[in-house]
Amino acid sequence: NLKDVADFPLGNIVSASKLASTSASNTTFKDILNQEYNSITAENDMKMANMFTGPDTYDFSDGDAIVAYALENGFRVHGHALIWHSSIPNWLNTFEGTDEEFEAQIEAYVKATVAHFAEVTDGDGVPVVASWDVVNEYFDGSAVRTSLFTQRIGTDFHEKAFQWAREADPDVKLFYNDYNIAGEVDKRNAIISMVSNFISDDIPIDGIGMQMHLNHDWPSTDLPTSIQDIADTGLLVHISELDVKANYSDDLSELTVERAQAQEEQYQRVGYYYTSIVPQAQQFGLTIWGVRDQDSWLYDGGSDWPLLYDNDFNTKITHRGLVDGLEGV
Ligand code: G3I
Repeated sequence: NLKDVADFPLGNIVSASKLASTSASNTTFKDILNQEYNSITAENDMKMANMFTGPDTYDFSDGDAIVAYALENGFRVHGHALIWHSSIPNWLNTFEGTDEEFEAQIEAYVKATVAHFAEVTDGDGVPVVASWDVVNEYFDGSAVRTSLFTQRIGTDFHEKAFQWAREADPDVKLFYNDYNIAGEVDKRNAIISMVSNFISDDIPIDGIGMQMHLNHDWPSTDLPTSIQDIADTGLLVHISELDVKANYSDDLSELTVERAQAQEEQYQRVGYYYTSIVPQAQQFGLTIWGVRDQDSWLYDGGSDWPLLYDNDFNTKITHRGLVDGLEGV
């Protein structure tokens, strides 16, 4: 079992509808989840587009169902994601209030959401929602990405967001999350310099999420370097959305042995470098972005096979690769 070979939480993604379903495949899905993992992230249900339903109006019901499942089955929940340019409710895109009113809406949303999900604790008084991705994908390469948030609040919206989240909950772990932190050196350096500015300006931040959407042959030497660079910030390190594409150039109709082995090796390397490079006190955990291939955002009707289980829920060689890496092999 994955969770038994790691000294840190092992996660996967869920939806409230899958957890509520009693179909045969969702029952198997939950069996695997309960056996192999001890941390869950909502794939979509706890994003702004799903929960921020109108001005000063929130719908936390899907997130609440996920938290209830976690409490009952002994999972930690990682909150994902408070502010992301790709998850904006329609009404907010066309919000006609002033920029000040827009900012007040976002501040109230961040505070209400963090406070709401801080309420549920386990039998030991530990909050079930341990952490939040406060800002997701602020950078585009090494530049600040232009978004509704930079346009209406300013390029310092990310600093405000972390401060609002901290005001709402003094203890929850606050993460910055992004992709290609391994692979894009300029982007990584921009993130590291953002973190050091946060620290010198007393802006609260606890951790960095490295999404880790990888390809079977990318990145190579930059993978350990990037994990080392992020660990050197001294913050918690979360591998937050791991998957490995075998077919990024769409040149295969089915998986070849060579690509499958390259994928296995990539999973092994992530497990190995995370375990061996990140100091134990900074190991927040490793989360895989999906259980079965067909449930992946990359599956696309059968044109990629990026995960640890096939569509019949059998483990693939990628699963063995990750176990080997976590065991230090
Ligand atoms: O639920 C609706 C369904 O009712 C509708 O018929 C269908 C039509 O397109 O859309 C369904 O919603 C989709 C949802 O996934 C559930 O499948 C959305 O369109 C689609 O945009 C959404 O994609 C998600 C994507 O984030 C955008 O929110 C993916 O599932 C999810 O895996 C992906 O995850 C992101 C992380 O949050 C951030 N990092 C990158 C990662 C991959 O893109």
